[in-house]
Amino acid sequence: MPPTRPRVVLGVAGGIAAYKAVELLRQLTETGHDVRVVPTAAALEFVGAPTWAALSGHPATDSPWADVDEVPHVRIGQGADLLVVAPATADLMARAAHGLADDLLTGTLLTVRCPVVMAPAMHTEMWEHPATQANVATLRARGVLVLEPAVGRLTGADSGKGRLPDPEQIAHVVRRVLARGGLPLDLAGRRVVVSAGGTREHLDPVRYLGNRSSGRQGHALARAAVARGAEVVLVTASGLPAPAGADVVRVVSAEDLRAAVHAAAPGADAVVMAAAVADYRPVERLDHKRKRGDGGRTVELVENPDVLAELVAARSPGQVLVGFAAETGDAGASVLEHGRAKLARKGCDLLVVNEVGGEGHPTGFEGDDNAAVVLGADGSETAVPLGSKDALADAVWDLVAARL
Ligand code: CTP
Repeated sequence: MPPTRPRVVLGVAGGIAAYKAVELLRQLTETGHDVRVVPTAAALEFVGAPTWAALSGHPATDSPWADVDEVPHVRIGQGADLLVVAPATADLMARAAHGLADDLLTGTLLTVRCPVVMAPAMHTEMWEHPATQANVATLRARGVLVLEPAVGRLTGADSGKGRLPDPEQIAHVVRRVLARGGLPLDLAGRRVVVSAGGTREHLDPVRYLGNRSSGRQGHALARAAVARGAEVVLVTASGLPAPAGADVVRVVSAEDLRAAVHAAAPGADAVVMAAAVADYRPVERLDHKRKRGDGGRTVELVENPDVLAELVAARSPGQVLVGFAAETGDAGASVLEHGRAKLARKGCDLLVVNEVGGEGHPTGFEGDDNAAVVLGADGSETAVPLGSKDALADAVWDLVAARL
């Protein structure tokens, strides 16, 4: 028998971002989810029922009065593994927070027992209004995963906070929440900082010293923390798309990364340094392209500060600090021996040690998969077998959550 497809209810409220929910629907059906769309009447002003019905393979109506013999506002909710509302408007969240049930979507929101994710989208003023913020707080207190909106272009010429995150990134959150099978949001109320990617140390406007870190593991960590309810700051040197719900700070060099991490770390419950920070930078960055023969073949380097060591020195009580160590092992010591020595040297709580290699190596860098051993300052050793970077991310947060 083929495995049953996860059943997702996609609620669509009446905002201009409803058109992006079409792409979210597509993403979810393409990755094996059985999606039933429940639009509001206002959503149907933006995107018509035939679009939702054709792409989902199910009827799409806002009315609890259609097919009454099937009691749709109860049946749709009872059959769902997850309900995601995207976009969630200020009005929809107000109605949900107050338990109104004046259409099929709000009725369904009252009957579901599965995890509920909301991706708000609205103008900055509406998002920041105390009424909206109070409704968001109520929904979060009841266990709804309300994502922070993205910052960027809004309807019309203005921009600010309130944009719907990229549909593909919302689909990632849906998959991560489903993968945890309705487990509680154990990082709700926590603020975490994650660094990701390989820094670039510029020699001149066109050349830099860099490394092979893709940023995928760090972005997976940010995504996983969002899906567990945390407020997430992602400081990334990678060009990967911004994970839904995370506050993303883009950086280039180790110095930029250091400044952004130190700005975000005070008061954070955990900081995970997944970034591959360059140990050295050129003494001088030329403002013009270095020509062949300019200054010979030697580049003078200066050491970068160790950000993780600085975090350890400045840590607030109870803050959990996590380092990463990509190791190859050598004649003198194995991967794990290097890891244990590094954990002692750095003084962090957890060190995620993974073996990396060149092209075709199954773990680390550009691939989708990773395996690691997480060493604890308390002497613990947790082996995480080869699996997705998302799975390793959840294993790291399990260990962090246990220490918080
Ligand atoms: N790290 C950091 N600042 C640096 C270098 C590294 O915060 N300037 C952090 C990384 O983000 C990672 C951990 O320290 O979490 C280990 O990084 P790694 O490059 O393996 O450490 P190094 O001390 O540079 O050790 P090695 O001698 O093996 O390069």
